Amino acid sequence: MPVSYKPLDIKTISHNEDIEIHYFDELDSTNSWLKDNGNCGDVCICESQSEGRGRRGNRWQSPNTGNIYFSMCWCFDKKLKYHSLIGLIVGIATAEALADTGVSGHGLKWPNDIYWQSKKLGGILIESSSQSERLIIGIGLNISITNSVKARIGQESTSLSEILDKNEFSRELLLSHLIYRLNKNLKQFNSLNFDDFIHSWNNWDILKGKIVSFTHHGIKISGLVDQLDEFGRLGIIKNNGSLEYFSTADIKLRPQETI
Ligand code: BTN
Repeated sequence: MPVSYKPLDIKTISHNEDIEIHYFDELDSTNSWLKDNGNCGDVCICESQSEGRGRRGNRWQSPNTGNIYFSMCWCFDKKLKYHSLIGLIVGIATAEALADTGVSGHGLKWPNDIYWQSKKLGGILIESSSQSERLIIGIGLNISITNSVKARIGQESTSLSEILDKNEFSRELLLSHLIYRLNKNLKQFNSLNFDDFIHSWNNWDILKGKIVSFTHHGIKISGLVDQLDEFGRLGIIKNNGSLEYFSTADIKLRPQETI
């Protein structure tokens, strides 16, 4: 059912007083805007992006209004113990925010994709600016995408308007929960307990126990997805029984092979 589009009513998005929300009809990219203009804690949201960026140099198709194109500038005051887990923590916050808003049946595909059943619902792009402790966290969520945008995405994707059985969906409510969850999870990041992290991750993980195949340095590898390690690397039990961990930079899982 198509969700009727209304521009965001920014003043109804609840957030702490120390967070400033910058809202635009159109931008090149909310990540780029915040990188150049944002202070720590600021949020940038827009209705469409002309140069939306995805991971691995991909474009994030963003001509449609009515979706979520969101970025937050987050600063840590000291070097991070588990730097490589940040993207996973942001994924958990996003999944939690969707659940807070009444969405169910979604999950996380390592490292940074939000999935609903076997289709991509959203993605996360984390970029660091000059100082490594200042991060730009970008989140794109499909609320209502047209068929022509879907055709351009290049992988199976879905949107909340297809999933939810209602034609009203409050993006403001989802954004309020998202800001709350991000703040909570990122504030706790430096005192992160790995057991708690892995417990939360396992709640949302859609790959564990699945057979996957991917190419690693030109070599085709397949195996059974096991637990993440303390660096957030994906454990794979290979066909010969050995367990090997792969970092985000190493591999690109192809969705049609994983679900
Ligand atoms: C992915 O490739 O899955 C990550 C997509 C991230 C898209 C979001 S939309 C808001 C923010 N601004 C951008 O240019 N990209 C991110």
